[in-house]
Amino acid sequence: MCGIIGYIGRRNAVPILISSLKRLEYRGYDSAGIAFFMNGRIEMRRCAGKIKDLESSIKGQRLRGPLGIGHTRWATHGRPTEENAHPHRAGGVVVVHNGIIENYLELKESLIKRGHRFRSETDTEVACHLISSCLQKGLNLEEATREALRHIRGAYALAIISESEPDKIIAVKKDSPLVIGLGRDEFFVASDIPAFLNHTRDVVIPDNGEIAVVTGQGVRFTDMDGRPLKKKTLRITWSPRMAEKGGYRHFMLKEIFEQPRAIADTIRGRVFPEKGEVNLKEFSLDSRMLRGFKKIFLVACGTSWHAALVGKYMIEGMARVPCEVDIASEFRYRRPIIPEDCLVIVITQSGETADTLAAQREARRQGAMVLSICNVVGSTSSREADAVFYTHSGPEIGVASTKAFTSQLVALYILSIALARARGVLDAAEAVELFNELLSLPEKVEKALGLNDYIKKIARRFYKVRDFLYLGRGINYPIALEGALKLKEISYIHAEGYPAGEMKHGPIALIDDNVPVLTIVPNDELYEKMLSNIEEVRSRGGRVIAVTTGDNKRISDVASWTIFLPESNYYLMPVIFSIPMHLLAYHIAVLRKCNVDQPRNLAKSVTVE
Ligand code: M6R
Repeated sequence: MCGIIGYIGRRNAVPILISSLKRLEYRGYDSAGIAFFMNGRIEMRRCAGKIKDLESSIKGQRLRGPLGIGHTRWATHGRPTEENAHPHRAGGVVVVHNGIIENYLELKESLIKRGHRFRSETDTEVACHLISSCLQKGLNLEEATREALRHIRGAYALAIISESEPDKIIAVKKDSPLVIGLGRDEFFVASDIPAFLNHTRDVVIPDNGEIAVVTGQGVRFTDMDGRPLKKKTLRITWSPRMAEKGGYRHFMLKEIFEQPRAIADTIRGRVFPEKGEVNLKEFSLDSRMLRGFKKIFLVACGTSWHAALVGKYMIEGMARVPCEVDIASEFRYRRPIIPEDCLVIVITQSGETADTLAAQREARRQGAMVLSICNVVGSTSSREADAVFYTHSGPEIGVASTKAFTSQLVALYILSIALARARGVLDAAEAVELFNELLSLPEKVEKALGLNDYIKKIARRFYKVRDFLYLGRGINYPIALEGALKLKEISYIHAEGYPAGEMKHGPIALIDDNVPVLTIVPNDELYEKMLSNIEEVRSRGGRVIAVTTGDNKRISDVASWTIFLPESNYYLMPVIFSIPMHLLAYHIAVLRKCNVDQPRNLAKSVTVE
């Protein structure tokens, strides 16, 4: 996830670009840059680090221009260095980009053969070269952009300027956010409204496949064939202060609501759904390798360990490869036996968790191949692993992991299908069906998020309790653990996750009116057993919140509160069940007036043992 900005108007673009980038910094903050017209030429300033580093690097320089573009980066392709920081340039064409160009490798190869020289490792640079080569054929900037886009596959919001036409910014959108701000004699292009909210509240939101030509006189919209479009102007009612977290009260809430997008980005470019195949090249893997593994270890900490527990069900269930799951901080001290021909999958949002890195190093020391499922590009785990599956969740700032967790589950689902296909235990038709379900997941997660108000009501009933019990079975038992962890880390309520069948072996002694029990009840073969567990709780005076799917109407007769979620297949239900866990913990913590984004004693990334 990155942030883009563009300005054209009567004022000096440079300070406006910098202050807008600060407002977009939540979208990424590993490197930044600006490009602007000064004396008829495009000047660029870029640096690795945050916007304040960019700001200090240009301090004292007399930079002025009426038009410019800027970018704050969250690296996906290429490390967070100055060379990889946007804007990127080819000839007189300069571009900033948010999104992923999926076919950049093949485009790059063919451009190199035609004599183009690349300066960065990014996917974005191919867009500059393509547009520049179209300009050389005699097209104007708008036509050249349109022509170049015919070759590009993937998601993008692009802002483009060119020395050949110093009076305009071209902005285009496909599957990445883009908004146009209409001020008085000045205009803005941005990834998000907060970027220019202190200058104007009048916005136009382009749809996919639309192009905006922005000049000092106004904005003209066309479709990909150049046909003019009439667009509606919206008046935004937000205040600039609200917008600092993208309009959300906390980063955690914003990240919870970003999950449909995070999941879609984690899927994009990774699967060939119509063929029932996984794009293994993306992860430096091949089928022969995947066929060879006799055993898989999944190693992680905290929430990522919960993803690993779900991963075991996915891999063993779909690919029939035996799996062991380890808590990373325990792994090396138990002197693990890591046989030859095994794969060690480490799961880490940050890629910097000390215990996970130590486990990863132990695995490599014993000669195992390590695959890292990681969210932060260029992190230690990703650099030290033999193969990497990047989750594209975007920066996760709230200490409580939410969107990174569900993206990890999606990554494990895709890997399980890859393993199953390589080993011949899943045919193409079965894989197509599993992919179809995966592709509908963002929409189902969106629907689950629609229950926010109802879950807030439940939170109001329970936020004063001291203890909470979460029960689940099978693949959803780790979701009970995750629900309990979310609650305890941000609300400081003692919470325990338990396999529902184990309750009678001890925890049932805790049940009374003061210990609410949240039960996860999917529509599977253990449904009846879960109903019996709920009855056991009820008959001891316990209050039950049941989280289930649309078809399980019998549940409402036995539970005090029932949350009905959209249904998915067995392997993807844990993703959907995670949503009410996040929301309930969040609302309870807010009602208890806790610091949701920075809970006491915790850090986002635990880099010590
Ligand atoms: O960055 P990692 O995924 O390696 O972090 C692991 C844990 O520290 C992390 O998941 C932690 O448990 C979160 N605070 C949970 O919300």
